[in-house]
Amino acid sequence: MASLEILRTDRLVLTRWTAEYEDFLFDMYSRWEVQQYMGRVPAVMTDPSAIPDLLKRWESLRDGVQGVWAIFKDEPSATPVGSILLKSIPASGTGEPSGDIEIGWHLHPDQWGHGYATEAASAVLAAGFSSGLDRVVAVTRTANTASQAVCARLGMTHLGLSDEYYDVTCELFEILRP
Ligand SMILES: CC(C)(COP(=O)(O)OP(=O)(O)OC[C@H]1O[C@@H](n2cnc3c(N)ncnc32)[C@H](O)[C@@H]1OP(=O)(O)O)[C@@H](O)C(=O)NCCC(=O)NCCS
Repeated sequence: MASLEILRTDRLVLTRWTAEYEDFLFDMYSRWEVQQYMGRVPAVMTDPSAIPDLLKRWESLRDGVQGVWAIFKDEPSATPVGSILLKSIPASGTGEPSGDIEIGWHLHPDQWGHGYATEAASAVLAAGFSSGLDRVVAVTRTANTASQAVCARLGMTHLGLSDEYYDVTCELFEILRP
């Protein structure tokens, strides 16, 4: 599917990350407060040379509205805020695509507390449902109450604990196409 290039909300512009933002991405992903609930064994990024590979991986995920969105305030040249991911979620055990699509959010701590994650995710979800998705899930660590609050603000339904994905036991949320 042709990749969607831009999404706009009242306060935000969502586009795709480019090499221009490598320093911002390293700054964000090298912070424990951003990484503490991510992955099977959470770890901060310690080497900026990992960012170009990350950008390549994200580029390969682009498919219509799916992929990793860069969030900016107002215009792409303005302040970067963080990332919204809409992508296939791997099944526990095999690591193969589970058949489900997940949404996720990583914001720079300087940008927390303004409603930007919810506003950006809402636009990505709407575009995903318009493009034909029937269901989107989100997984969060039980301790990640900030992320669970985003799920709630988006109107996602809490399905309880699940070990279906990523070989991790997480709180599972879902939202169905309206
Ligand atoms: C999870 C994360 C994205 C949540 O960020 P956030 O800024 O709290 O979430 P939102 O964008 O929805 O903002 C909501 C907050 O903005 C406040 N806010 C301020 N102005 C607002 C406005 N104009 N509109 C809406 N909300 C506003 C809300 O009151 C709320 O604050 P509260 O939590 O103190 O009540 C952020 O903590 C993060 O990036 N964490 C690290 C990465 C991570 O763990 N990701 C999830 C992995 S599962």
